[in-house]
Amino acid sequence: MDFITSTAILPLLFGCVGVFSLFKLLQRMRTNAYLRNAVVVITGATSGLGRECARVFYTAGAKLVLCGRNREALEELTEELTASLATKVQTHRPYTVTFDLADPGAIVAATAEILQCFGHVDVLLNNAGISYRGAIVDTATDVDKKVMETNYFGPVALTKALLPSMIKRRQGHVVVISSIQGKISIPFRSAYAASKHATQAFFDCLRAEMEQYEIEVTVISPGYIHTNLSLNAVTADGSTYGVMDKTTAQGRSPVEVARDVLAAVGKKKKDVILADLLPSLAIYLRTLAPGLFFSLMASRARKERKCKNS
Ligand SMILES: NC(=O)c1ccc[n+]([C@@H]2O[C@H](COP(=O)([O-])OP(=O)(O)OC[C@H]3O[C@@H](n4cnc5c(N)ncnc54)[C@H](OP(=O)(O)O)[C@@H]3O)[C@@H](O)[C@H]2O)c1
Ligand SMILES: *[C@@H]1O[C@H](CO)[C@@H](O)[C@H](O)[C@H]1NC(C)=O
Repeated sequence: MDFITSTAILPLLFGCVGVFSLFKLLQRMRTNAYLRNAVVVITGATSGLGRECARVFYTAGAKLVLCGRNREALEELTEELTASLATKVQTHRPYTVTFDLADPGAIVAATAEILQCFGHVDVLLNNAGISYRGAIVDTATDVDKKVMETNYFGPVALTKALLPSMIKRRQGHVVVISSIQGKISIPFRSAYAASKHATQAFFDCLRAEMEQYEIEVTVISPGYIHTNLSLNAVTADGSTYGVMDKTTAQGRSPVEVARDVLAAVGKKKKDVILADLLPSLAIYLRTLAPGLFFSLMASRARKERKCKNS
């Protein structure tokens, strides 16, 4: 008996590992084929996650259109990418398009420019965003509007402007970087959480409506990432927060998250959570035991208030 199991288990084990590796390899090959020579538009490419996405999609052989408000930073990134060492696949010199997502008029003009770069768009990666810190009672409504303009109305307008050309080709993929805060709201982040909840809702609708045209929609919800997001966050009075929060500093590296974004896009995933166990559990708690979730958030708000006042 002993002899039989020991002779049977080893080959079985090796077989499983082999099949699994082969499966992974095939999956990676499919992702690579999907993104090689694909026209990928990335918003917020000047910093943080967007910049790392630019690097991984460039290396995968995508034809990039890099967007942001800072023309110099976009050009610097282009030079850095094109100067990088020879890669396995053929790479393409990126284009840059500079515009403010909070300016509806600028989006119309930018869309024409984006479409001119390579003639069409295969993947739109809505990544740009701004965060917020403040108590609701202290916050000017203009601040709520600013966050919604950048995180919600901007991506919505850009997506709508690019959709007709995708529908005509019956091909396209809209990706949006939301947040765990698009699924649960934590205190003193009202405007940000609201903008991300709205984003989730809009792009879930879009997915259903676009299925008939074979256009894919991917919503990605990361937990904390170590970027400048909290430094660039807006506060209750509209000023810049300018603090690197501990939670953000301890977040995942943007390089790793960018690799996960590339994989999710390559696999045409519909909804992806990129976070540790605790935030993932909190999402279930909000649905299954809302009373408990609300009291946890209330005690978190009390604690944060106390820290601020002491
Ligand atoms: N960091 C985190 O912990 C975390 C967690 C979950 C989700 N996210 C999401 O990840 C995305 C990327 O953020 P990040 O962490 O990489 O932050 P980041 O380093 O501050 O980058 C934000 C990017 O958005 C662009 N941007 C901001 N306002 C804009 C506007 N009005 N018009 C055009 N572009 C604008 C910025 O470019 P310019 O300044 O050059 O315009 C910058 O490239 C955001 O959607 C964010 O909500 C971040
Ligand atoms: C954060 O901002 C600084 C100063 O603008 C910049 O040098 C740095 O590269 C940024 N970090 C990330 C992760 O984008």
